[in-house]
Amino acid sequence: VTVAVVYGGRSAERQVSLESGTMVAAALRERGYQVIDVDLYGDQGAENPIQQLSNIQFDVAFIALHGGEGEDGTIQALLTLMGKPFTGSKPLASGFAMDKALTKQFWQGIGIPTPAYLCFEGLVDEALINKTMQYPLIVKPSREGSTIGISKVDGPEQLPAALVMAQRYDSDILVEEYITGKEYTVTVIADEAYAPIRLQPSAEHVLYDYDAKYLANDTQYLIPCGLSNEKEQELKELALAAYRSVGCEGWGRVDVMQSEDGKFWVLEVNTSPGMTSHSLVPMAAKHAGLSYQDLVERLVQDALA
Ligand code: DAL
Ligand code: MG
Repeated sequence: VTVAVVYGGRSAERQVSLESGTMVAAALRERGYQVIDVDLYGDQGAENPIQQLSNIQFDVAFIALHGGEGEDGTIQALLTLMGKPFTGSKPLASGFAMDKALTKQFWQGIGIPTPAYLCFEGLVDEALINKTMQYPLIVKPSREGSTIGISKVDGPEQLPAALVMAQRYDSDILVEEYITGKEYTVTVIADEAYAPIRLQPSAEHVLYDYDAKYLANDTQYLIPCGLSNEKEQELKELALAAYRSVGCEGWGRVDVMQSEDGKFWVLEVNTSPGMTSHSLVPMAAKHAGLSYQDLVERLVQDALA
């Protein structure tokens, strides 16, 4: 079996994807697969993704792209047209989940709890935010990942700078009420929820932000996550419901907050989760007895099945 490991891309998460893709490719080689590295928009320079993928012979693609065209259904649609199986969700679910505001609106409609929010396309109505929302707030680009462009805003005076920051990455801006409490993430592989991980950034990181995710060594990852069996089960079921509701397939990771009253709030579902040495899905898989290589092989085999 020849696997095209597709990574790189031109989203703001390119660096993260290079790391995910390199590790995935190495793991597959260790398992005896033929692997072709496909660095989209990488050193092949002039070639576009259609040319890059058309010029190689492969049986299945491992999508190790994050954000932008790699996670929004675009590459998934191209591979579908080429008749090639690939890891993860199909184009429609990928595109849907990539748009956090759209997903939250949908979740509100079907009763999946998600923090209160406003979304703005283009012009942001700060007066409306200040009138209807409760600080602290989280301001983020609606269609980005890895906390890029995200700020926590404690009061109205901090709002303008946070909006400028988010607008660097997306014209659609999501303003969400901040849930004070604990942060969890739940890995889903082939429609099964794995043990949740609790994320505890060190005190100097206000959020589980880009630095806390990929650079810091003082972020704590708690697995088992410290919840009672009953609450852990509730969290897994909620994450699975959120994942299924959007039509996700293959694998994904659902990010959830727990407020101080014990209630869970779903933030988003990631359809192409990080696979770096700091990443969470490999951690959850390992806890379940799957090594990094086992995990990658499993995802490839599921894509081929
Ligand atoms: N967007 C990053 C890669 C993640 O969700 O893991
Ligand atoms: Mg994300």
